[in-house]
Amino acid sequence: MPEIERLKAIALEAGAIVREGYASHKEIRHKGVVDLVTQYDTRTEAFLLERLSKAFPDCTLVGEESYRGEYDLDRALYIDPIDGTTNFVHRLPHLAVSLGLWEEGAPKIAVLYNPILDELYWAERGRGAWLGDQPLRLPDSRPLQQSLIATGFPYAKVERGPEYRWVIEALAEILPRIQDIRRLGAASVDLAYLARGIFGGFYEIDLKPWDVAAGILLVQESGGIVSNLEGAPYRFGDKGIVAGSPTVHRELLPLLPFIEIT
Ligand code: IPD
Ligand code: CA
Ligand code: CA
Repeated sequence: MPEIERLKAIALEAGAIVREGYASHKEIRHKGVVDLVTQYDTRTEAFLLERLSKAFPDCTLVGEESYRGEYDLDRALYIDPIDGTTNFVHRLPHLAVSLGLWEEGAPKIAVLYNPILDELYWAERGRGAWLGDQPLRLPDSRPLQQSLIATGFPYAKVERGPEYRWVIEALAEILPRIQDIRRLGAASVDLAYLARGIFGGFYEIDLKPWDVAAGILLVQESGGIVSNLEGAPYRFGDKGIVAGSPTVHRELLPLLPFIEIT
């Protein structure tokens, strides 16, 4: 079976665990003041690790809830068992199982599955991005002022440090120049909505590889641009990510303030 079909099948099965948990009682642990994890995050990740280790034996498996190591790897699968855990806990259906396979610093295949809305996004490098059997092609005619821009707020916001100040400064610059802002709570799905042309752009700081590994390929394969805050190609470990249609990316990038890597 081709790699992409193997990955889709495993994401759909993992999604069934998340769907079951969505309507059920959850045991909530705090990784930080507002950073939550439930038994369904750990259970879904354990399932994914078991299945992926057999289906992709030559890949390092980088799962959010269990991996402790470096992110720069030759061939790795970056796994977010539930991206949007806070939404999952509050039953807001903006969440996904996110699986992105990268080789030598570039995304190769991606699968993103929202089991609540039953939406399966997938992409292969050089072969396009899809929602189910619909190809995704983002429109490039809309300027920033007419675009919905998605963002997210890092968990470090509670410390009221440089990240918190950056979020506020960025909003102050951007808000008057866009149609409106959305903070829906799952970076991977935000990137998929960008690939669909719902959002014109997306930016955030302090994201981890598993948040963006699948979404980046969806955006690139639908015709969008993804960079760091300096405008260079985004690499894991960069402080910020900026994505958009070519027009929106060009207009958005210079508005984002500088922030030191900590
Ligand atoms: C989070 C979501 C959120 C983003 C956070 C992420 P999680 O992932 O993607 O949108 O703002 O920075 O950590 O914790 O729900 O897997
Ligand atoms: Ca995540
Ligand atoms: Ca997660």
